[in-house]
Amino acid sequence: MELNSTAAVTGAPGGASAVLLGALLSALTHSFQRLSAQGTFPPDAADRLKTAYDFVVVGAGSAGAVVAARLSENPDWSVLLLEAGGDPPPDSEVPALFAALQNTPMDWAYRTEPDPNSCRAFRGHRCPVPRGKAVGGSHAMNAMMYIRGSRHDYDEWAALGNEGWRYEDVLPYFKKSEDLGAKRLLDLDDAPLHHSTGGPLTVSDYFCPDSYSAVRKSIIQSAAEMGHKISQDFRLDDLFGFNSTIGTLQNGERCTSAKAFLGEAKSRPNLHVVKNALVTNVLIDEDTKTAYGVHFEKDGNGYKVEANKEVIVSAGTINSPQLLMLSGIGPRKHLEDKGISPVIQDLSVGENLQDHMALFGVLHLLNSSVNPLPVPEMEMNAVYEYFSRRTGLLSGVGVADITGFLKTERNPKDITDSDRPDIQIIHLLFEKSNTNALDAFISTLNFTPELASFFSHAVSQSDLLFQCPVLLHPKSRGRIVLQSKNPHDKPLIHANFLSEPEDVRTLTEGALFASARGRTAALRALNATLLRPPLTECDDSEFDSRAFWACAIRQMASTLYHPVGTCKMGPPADPTAVVDERLRVHGVKGLRVADASIMPTLTSGNTNAPTIMIGEKAAAMIKEDWAEFCDRTLDSCGPN
Ligand SMILES: Cc1cc2nc3c(=O)[nH]c(=O)nc-3n(C[C@H](O)[C@H](O)[C@H](O)COP(=O)(O)OP(=O)(O)OC[C@H]3O[C@@H](n4cnc5c(N)ncnc54)[C@H](O)[C@@H]3O)c2cc1C
Ligand SMILES: *[C@@H]1O[C@H](CO)[C@@H](O)[C@H](O)[C@H]1NC(C)=O
Ligand SMILES: *[C@@H]1O[C@H](CO)[C@@H](O)[C@H](O)[C@H]1NC(C)=O
Ligand SMILES: *[C@@H]1O[C@H](CO)[C@@H](O)[C@H](O)[C@H]1NC(C)=O
Repeated sequence: MELNSTAAVTGAPGGASAVLLGALLSALTHSFQRLSAQGTFPPDAADRLKTAYDFVVVGAGSAGAVVAARLSENPDWSVLLLEAGGDPPPDSEVPALFAALQNTPMDWAYRTEPDPNSCRAFRGHRCPVPRGKAVGGSHAMNAMMYIRGSRHDYDEWAALGNEGWRYEDVLPYFKKSEDLGAKRLLDLDDAPLHHSTGGPLTVSDYFCPDSYSAVRKSIIQSAAEMGHKISQDFRLDDLFGFNSTIGTLQNGERCTSAKAFLGEAKSRPNLHVVKNALVTNVLIDEDTKTAYGVHFEKDGNGYKVEANKEVIVSAGTINSPQLLMLSGIGPRKHLEDKGISPVIQDLSVGENLQDHMALFGVLHLLNSSVNPLPVPEMEMNAVYEYFSRRTGLLSGVGVADITGFLKTERNPKDITDSDRPDIQIIHLLFEKSNTNALDAFISTLNFTPELASFFSHAVSQSDLLFQCPVLLHPKSRGRIVLQSKNPHDKPLIHANFLSEPEDVRTLTEGALFASARGRTAALRALNATLLRPPLTECDDSEFDSRAFWACAIRQMASTLYHPVGTCKMGPPADPTAVVDERLRVHGVKGLRVADASIMPTLTSGNTNAPTIMIGEKAAAMIKEDWAEFCDRTLDSCGPN
């Protein structure tokens, strides 16, 4: 899209009004151009590529961008960052457009393999698994919610044999990245214990349009009526409650870890970033089992670069295991079946896949009148406000920044410090008649045409509220396997969602909670009406009963886009572990994995902030490990 101010005013009346219109268009055009990534990131260094670097980092996503930028703080180290995608498109900067980025060239656009237990109401029985393919990775297309999880998540990682990952150990790494812009949180007395300012990553409140304030209050109040507290701040040691959360946002635009960290590092001569570069395998010496570089492809050409010190794989939960397996690290039998040789190290790569299932099926019509205008006028205002001031509907996400955490088998009053939530609630609201936005969102979900038209019809009647209960700690485990040894073939995602009956039971309690909220005074005042989704397979059950929701979950629940665990961190004695507590691949030297795939278990909440923390901690450990080496050999490796 390009606005041409001269052409646009042709035919307009002459005189002062034409001059004003011209000025307006040129201001808007300038504002639009500022959205482009031009100059935000380091330029592509393909023309300066060296044959060897100290460190080669694969993937410029949530974690990889942090690892590469932090390592390049040592001017004596050379760092190469390779990313399969290019700079993100301007749409990526606009918070409200996050869902529109799916199924575009910046999305790997994976699908789960069909499975009798789940994703039944999705086309081909396959749930969509979007993943970012751009500088910024999945952070360049996510909903920007900043949630660290529960302290018990990290204490659990430590209890599984991973020293250095307790709550007390990880908290400083969350703070290290952070530049908190939300004054309401900085003003709290104990803010310095939990937050900081001055880090590269800007975290702020989402913009809330005035027309949404009333319904936002009602949504939060409905949870309060049911005994849940209104959260001041979703903290690691105090996660329960409902309210809006903060997000990785800066002045009305998305702030990815890539924008934050690589932006800061962009003029360092020792950091090279090569974009549109697909790494096809890690080079590993078979005898010494030492990684010494990578192969990558760019524009149809193959390249080989060496890593003098280490290769760090940060390609995400789907692609990191694929890359390790292509390089001969993985389940021996599977690799042999796919013709990969030699098998360097037999490890459970790709196993232990976990994801947050969310039910996109608890729907209330609300008469919240969030949009008093006809939709085209609403859209025009939104565009004008965004391009003139970075405010308005486009700078927020409606009600999607409102979230809540609860524990289903407990009364909210009985929650103790030693509990962690088992259900999160995500909220989405579509304005009456805004079928374009609704249809665009529903199409990302890949629902059957019958369900898609049910949603369209609903939003033509009234404002449509989704409450999506999210299963935070699934028992089910899936796996990623290779389709073939061709690096261009997508790996297969055997998600195995809901294979454990307990997962359906817990998520059903979440659905019942969400439907009950429609009966609170706060939502009754908006004439909340619960809609029955057309699911013929569930016709035998009474609507809104436990049995109905249990059935609906197997039909309509899908991933909330938080896959983790496929390169599990754990001690050598754990047969399912792939990396150790310092993220070194077991049995292989010079190779680490640093991204969401190393999480042994899912965190309580959205996974981006935890993944950025993993990047911070990985970089710090790498610096520490090489400093020790330098001390011992009296070599000089620079600071740290
Ligand atoms: C639609 C959506 C919404 C989400 N919303 C939220 C949210 O609101 N809050 C939240 O906390 N989390 C959210 N998440 C999840 C969060 O974004 C991820 O957990 C996080 O980004 C994972 O980071 P990562 O570093 O593991 O992987 P990624 O960020 O995916 O990075 C991996 C990078 O590696 C690159 N790569 C892969 N293979 C290769 C290769 N062979 N060669 C070179 N490069 C390669 C990829 O292109 C990508 O850039 C969302 C995710 C999605 C998809
Ligand atoms: C809930 O969040 C809003 C900001 O969106 C804030 O103004 C309010 O104080 C919070 N509530 C509590 C109890 O802290
Ligand atoms: C919705 O609210 C408006 C204004 O409050 C009212 O005029 C209208 O009748 C209501 N519609 C429904 C379906 O309740
Ligand atoms: C709710 O519905 C009742 C009866 O249909 C109507 O009188 C009232 O105005 C509605 N209220 C709102 C807020 O829509």
